[in-house]
Amino acid sequence: MNRTSWLALPAALLLAGGLSAQRYITVTTEHTCLAFRVTDKQALEQIYFGGRLADAKELERAALPGSSAYTAFGGEHTFEAALRVVQGDGNTSTELRYAASRTESKGDGVVQTVISLRDAHYALEVDLCYTAYQAEDVIEQRVEVRNRQPESITLHNFASADLSFSAPAYYVTQFHGNWADEMNLREQRLTPGIKVIDSKLGVRSHQFAHPCFLLSLGQPAREDEGEVVGATLAWPGSFQLCFEVDPTNLLRVLAGANPYASSYALAAGESFQTPALLYSYSREGAGAISRRFHRWARRYGLKNGSGERYVLLNNWEATYFDFDEEKLTKIIDDAAKMGFELFLLDDGWFGNKHPRNSDSAGLGDWQTNAKKLPRGLPYLISECKKRGLKFGIWVEPEMVNPQSELYEQHPDWIITQPHRELSLSRNQLLLDLSNPAVQEFVYKAIDNILAGNPGIDYVKWDCNRYVTNGGSQHLPPEKQSHLWVDNARAVLGVMEKVSAKYPQVCFMACSGGGGRLDYGSLKFFSEYWISDNGDPLQRIFTQWGGGYFFPAVGMASHVSASPAHISGRSTPLKFRFDVAMSAKLGMDLQPAQLSAADYAFSKNAIATYKEIRPVVLYGDLYRLLSPYEGNRTALMYVSEDRLSAVLFSFLVRKEVYGNRQALLLKGLQPDKRYRLKEINRESGGWSRFAEYEGKSFSGEYLMTVGLRFAMYNEYESVVVQLQREE
Ligand code: GLA
Repeated sequence: MNRTSWLALPAALLLAGGLSAQRYITVTTEHTCLAFRVTDKQALEQIYFGGRLADAKELERAALPGSSAYTAFGGEHTFEAALRVVQGDGNTSTELRYAASRTESKGDGVVQTVISLRDAHYALEVDLCYTAYQAEDVIEQRVEVRNRQPESITLHNFASADLSFSAPAYYVTQFHGNWADEMNLREQRLTPGIKVIDSKLGVRSHQFAHPCFLLSLGQPAREDEGEVVGATLAWPGSFQLCFEVDPTNLLRVLAGANPYASSYALAAGESFQTPALLYSYSREGAGAISRRFHRWARRYGLKNGSGERYVLLNNWEATYFDFDEEKLTKIIDDAAKMGFELFLLDDGWFGNKHPRNSDSAGLGDWQTNAKKLPRGLPYLISECKKRGLKFGIWVEPEMVNPQSELYEQHPDWIITQPHRELSLSRNQLLLDLSNPAVQEFVYKAIDNILAGNPGIDYVKWDCNRYVTNGGSQHLPPEKQSHLWVDNARAVLGVMEKVSAKYPQVCFMACSGGGGRLDYGSLKFFSEYWISDNGDPLQRIFTQWGGGYFFPAVGMASHVSASPAHISGRSTPLKFRFDVAMSAKLGMDLQPAQLSAADYAFSKNAIATYKEIRPVVLYGDLYRLLSPYEGNRTALMYVSEDRLSAVLFSFLVRKEVYGNRQALLLKGLQPDKRYRLKEINRESGGWSRFAEYEGKSFSGEYLMTVGLRFAMYNEYESVVVQLQREE
């Protein structure tokens, strides 16, 4: 059934949950189906998650084996629990029974199903909420737990989802890393027992692991075939992904906020909302999973997901903290002449009593530094606007340096434990957002900057450390374990408020690189900074990993100096540009530092990027050659209407004899012809692509015979534009 016919269904039918008399409940998208059965004992079981059937009623014809749809601790369940509650009277068990379900269209291709469960004895309500994005084939699941007992209860486990799978073998791909080395992929076959991927960092929670995974059924994940599930948790806080293979080889996957050291008390009448887990099932491999998430993100997941993006110049690596009005004005002038569209002023512009001249002081004091910028931000903004540039600014509002007026005034606002030494990281401390006064401060810090300096178009919201010594000076002793959940909720709350007040402002989620990359936050951000590492070789891997769940339209990628500041690697400017142009292009160096030839190349590349930008940012991503599997790596974007495409091909190590392997393109219309043009060529350089230049080929040829041009040199790259001929 397509989206239109779903929406055309009468409300009464939708309310019935799709199938017969509430014994079966299905959550469907255009191509997938998640089916539940209510047993005679009123237990809710998942009986199926896979491709959509023409007739879902067939699922009722044979008694499919079922597994608990949301496993609560106690009773006969002996495996990890999705939900573990200590009831008001101390009973540690929960027995969930089906109570009701309703399905309703939310419009815009979104259908919501809520399945309500109740404890068999206690006044405890659990709603499983599924939001099904029809065309994108993405399901969003969250859970709400309500305490209707007169006493307080305590939640010890509170997963967002509890999915079961039955296959001969399970392969999980995780996304792991560290600062300047984010989003590496590693796949592993699951063995009996439990594998946990988690974060206990609280803030900047994704520094070591991202709350995303691919689960491939039966065999390792392939790009274009095979059953793959992709999932990502929309949560900036600590998380846990738990994969348990039981003795019958059934796999259960629990995903949610990390319950570790985070038990949560609910007083009478209170409720607990878990973050959402977003997931998608594909029979066409991992490539389809990514394209679905990207389409979903552009439509629903990112702030202004399909809106305009600007080529920006960031002064961070260009100046670090060492700048003044004159230096910045020169950069702004150069930026405008080169074709940039936005200037982003990074760290170092604030603090007076404790000037922010290094990372050891000033954080928290959000007043313009009068010495560096005597005419304030309005002057810089007007210098930008005069030249047709937009203006952006860096903030890190959740943090404070001990050397700051903020800390002098509010030492009680930081996260720390009593009788323990202050635990500094990058010379800074975390503000305790479980405290409403701190929430208001963080909100006001950004609001004052934006309201007080009209004309700010872009905000880079940074967050450079994680929680250690995790105690709250605001929460009472019995609620100390709430800090982890409360802080994450509070930061989302502030993001939402800021974003709502400034709907036109583009926010970039940054956390010392990609330490905060999740769809809970991205709802309020249009871009994300995936890594501080400007080394293009490293970025090929990081962007490859990030692209599994997060779209190019948000993936800020900057051309930096060579040798790269973090890795020390030297690479050609063209290679750096080509890598950055395969996402959202920006630059992090001073134009004045470029040679005349490099300046000319850069200016040209920026102009070229503006031409291909719609395809790269709003097109479908096709991964062609993985950097994990060979020396050459390639990817392409194809516009949704299949009229244009851009191919990026990189060589990461020298090939002495050249490499003429067939590069099989994807996503084109086989029966249409596409004209090929190499772009971003160095002037005077000869083309590897000469044999194909200017010729047109059918989509069929390009996808079956492919392109066979050799690449020889380390850090060589070829970018090709494809235009469909009518
Ligand atoms: C973090 C960010 C960088 C830069 C610095 C400024 O490390 O990831 O891009 O903004 O902070 O201190």
